[in-house]
Amino acid sequence: MKIIVTKDYQAMSRCAADLVQACVEKEPQSLVSFPGGDTPIGMLEEFVSRVNQGAIDPTGLKFVQLDDWVGIGPQDEGSCSHFISTRLLAPMSRPFADQFLFDGSRRDTIDQQLEAQDAFIRRYGPIAVEVLGIGMNGHLGFNENGVDFSLRSHRTPLSDVTKSVQKKYFGGQDLPLTEGITQGIAQIMESELVILLANGTRKAEIVSKAITGPVTNEVPASILQKHPNCVYLLDQEAASLLPKDLPGLEIR
Ligand code: GLP
Repeated sequence: MKIIVTKDYQAMSRCAADLVQACVEKEPQSLVSFPGGDTPIGMLEEFVSRVNQGAIDPTGLKFVQLDDWVGIGPQDEGSCSHFISTRLLAPMSRPFADQFLFDGSRRDTIDQQLEAQDAFIRRYGPIAVEVLGIGMNGHLGFNENGVDFSLRSHRTPLSDVTKSVQKKYFGGQDLPLTEGITQGIAQIMESELVILLANGTRKAEIVSKAITGPVTNEVPASILQKHPNCVYLLDQEAASLLPKDLPGLEIR
């Protein structure tokens, strides 16, 4: 595992876009996956601006969404599909060759959507670059505490921590969301490159647990210690509890 510590959020976001760009330049027909949440906003802005300036060619790439909330869909602000549509797909001047988004509002088709996501990843995969955020409880996507590491696309009850954090995405409103849909750890671990982004002091404790603690499904992100090509890309605040002499740590 490589750990890159950048000076701030902007530097982290630029570095993430650099890594993604290098990867898609090598594999211009490949499958890529970006998460929702606040963390990737800067990276997505960089990615879109590089597409629009002609530095990244998306037209051979395929895109698969990481996760979403059951009960809300692309039309709902705060859903991950709405986030990806408005922050990535709509502002890109040239589209991806193909893309997969969930519609969590279509509750009756959730199982079919999960099968379709799994099939999409099998068709175009493995994922060449999987960008992830980390939840306050160490979740990856909606792979919550206690998750079975062998699962692929699946639905899951949301943990209490996730339920308590969720209102930040919905203008402070407490929505009655109880379930998530997500790529599984198996698909994440099969990705050729994983980039986990984390910024801010509030992520420092869970980042330190995930990197230096035991590999356990109680901290799902700890499984990335076993990934052969994973970069933890942090700002100084998120890295503040890591020992400075940690093997693989690079300060930029
Ligand atoms: C959310 C999403 C994840 C995201 C994580 C961190 O609940 N399910 O995909 O990576 O939690 O979110 P944020 O970047 O807003 O801290």
